[in-house]
Amino acid sequence: MSQPLQHIAIIMDGNGRWAKKRLLPRTVGHVRGAANVRHIVKAASEQGVKYLTLFAFSSENWRRPPEEVSALMGLFLQYLESEVAEMKAAGIRLRVIGDRSAFAPLLQSRIDQAEQDTAHNDRLHLTIAANYGGQWDILNAARAWQMAHPEKTLQDMDEQALAAHLSTAGLPDPELLVRTGGESRISNFLLWQTAYTELFFTDLHWPDFNGAALQQAIASYGQRVRRFGQTDEQVMNSHTTNKHPTAQPTFKIS
Ligand code: IPE
Ligand code: IPE
Ligand code: MG
Repeated sequence: MSQPLQHIAIIMDGNGRWAKKRLLPRTVGHVRGAANVRHIVKAASEQGVKYLTLFAFSSENWRRPPEEVSALMGLFLQYLESEVAEMKAAGIRLRVIGDRSAFAPLLQSRIDQAEQDTAHNDRLHLTIAANYGGQWDILNAARAWQMAHPEKTLQDMDEQALAAHLSTAGLPDPELLVRTGGESRISNFLLWQTAYTELFFTDLHWPDFNGAALQQAIASYGQRVRRFGQTDEQVMNSHTTNKHPTAQPTFKIS
């Protein structure tokens, strides 16, 4: 059964172990990892992916040694400086999600500039999650909703209303989440948005994850039966059940 696949999210893990295996410092793994982002963005675009969301730095990654954190910040800045012109030309729209207020002013202004410079592009929507946490995103969305509707109470909030204030508002939920590096966990990535996402875990470390590996993940996704709570029979008998039901029945427990 062919499945619609628009949005792939990737937890780019395993840079440190990639380096360790080669007796290199962890930061070399991050340099290779940053270079690989470019290859995977290209491969995803060639494979017809419309939305690609990459987890680059979690809200928990501040707990790493300060030298490693500053190397990662430096790489992010370098990435923006070297890639944005090309993204602009290649039709890639860049968004950055996460709490950017913690970043150095220069990095914040480069992020703002990159988003503005690519705002009219529509070929591939690349979202980089930096200082991002799924719990932060949900809490922030609830607060933003309350600010936008001071006259309402929490009883008035529903799933759509909350989702409209997530950092990913306007992007479809990912159909496929890939995690490299051998761990089988979400690590506070897109908690709300991956409620019905298909998961694909690979032992490949991020610097080794290439276009062929991406294709394998996509092929695996193609084999999945997405039921969204329904039975196999219902799915077989309907052309529409491959989509998350937008109008869900409301159950009231009284
Ligand atoms: C992913 O690789 C990059 C970031 C989390 C910033 P890691 O640095 O987590 O690599 P491992 O998991 O230690 O191998
Ligand atoms: C998740 O990787 C975050 C990113 C890839 C940016 P981690 O390496 O930080 O995850 P944990 O700590 O092993 O769960
Ligand atoms: Mg890791």
